[in-house]
Amino acid sequence: MVHDAYGSPELLELRDIDPPAIDEDGVLVRVRAAGLQVGDCFGVRGAPFAMRLVSGLLRPRYGVPGFDLAGQVEAVGKSVKRFQPGDEVFGACRGSCAEFASTGENQLALKPANLTMEGAAALPTSALAALQGLRDTGSLRPGQKVLINGASGGVGTFAVQLAKAFGAEVTGVCSTANVELVRSLGADHVVDYTREDFARRGERYDLIFDNVENRSLSECRRALTPGGTLILNSGTGARGIEMLIRLVKPLVVSPFVRQKLRRYLSTPNHDDLVVLKQLVESGKLRPVVDRTFPLVETSEALLHIEGGHARGKVVVTL
Ligand SMILES: NC(=O)c1ccc[n+]([C@@H]2O[C@H](COP(=O)([O-])OP(=O)(O)OC[C@H]3O[C@@H](n4cnc5c(N)ncnc54)[C@H](OP(=O)(O)O)[C@@H]3O)[C@@H](O)[C@H]2O)c1
Repeated sequence: MVHDAYGSPELLELRDIDPPAIDEDGVLVRVRAAGLQVGDCFGVRGAPFAMRLVSGLLRPRYGVPGFDLAGQVEAVGKSVKRFQPGDEVFGACRGSCAEFASTGENQLALKPANLTMEGAAALPTSALAALQGLRDTGSLRPGQKVLINGASGGVGTFAVQLAKAFGAEVTGVCSTANVELVRSLGADHVVDYTREDFARRGERYDLIFDNVENRSLSECRRALTPGGTLILNSGTGARGIEMLIRLVKPLVVSPFVRQKLRRYLSTPNHDDLVVLKQLVESGKLRPVVDRTFPLVETSEALLHIEGGHARGKVVVTL
């Protein structure tokens, strides 16, 4: 699925293009399923503008959406050690909404044995964001009280399960329709945001993992313990200068307060993909797949994500 210009996902066209070339340390994967997320919508629209620093200033450099894949290794470069043709893998790449995608061996791991291709493609970006956010940025420890805002979305469904696996007491925030889902993922408490405001409940959390950012910084800080950590994992709801202020303000305030106010960018790597594989195979983590779409309906899949109410992950199948 290709777009030659930035704009609505409806611009995407099904077209024959050459398979991507691989160099010495590259891996060519025959894609079976491609996990999508909000970042793919940004990439297709070229907005927020900062995305274009990576994808091309005036027009998309590559023009195939999709960062996440599951599939079979088709070919490997001379210096690749971990994989060989035929291996079933999952991980991160450039342009997974295509029959073939190329990537480096450090961005792949063997697919969890107990997952379908669709389930494995749902993992990489969102589950890594949850893992690295809670474990590395949040330094989550057993017994801590964690609140996950946006608990029913692509990142949130993984964050609830991972926080439980780390031994935390977990509160998830979602709408009425998703209360049972979030509870089934292991949340100890669920706040239905249509009935109750998590920032005004009088509860204090050691860690707030905010995938929505619909509350002001001061409201979130009031719901944190004095030494607690706020992880801001969105910031893209606003536009222009308002977005810039929202992105930067917590980082400017943080050095002057006891609470830790953090932003981070997750990065795909082999070791963390293996951590996810082990968690899935031991039954501690499972992907929640909201909907699957055939490749020709990639535009519909992206528009569904842009609706802001995906229930877990959206996956394109090939
Ligand atoms: N830091 C990183 O490296 C990194 C990596 C990946 C993603 N992200 C960011 O993470 C954020 C979340 O991504 P995602 O894939 O999880 O998004 P998503 O799948 O679109 O999740 C949306 C979720 O937000 C919930 N929601 C909407 N309004 C809400 C409200 N007022 N209160 C609580 N929940 C609300 C929705 O639940 P209901 O349907 O129940 O309303 C839905 O489940 C995005 O901003 C993305 O850019 C960051």
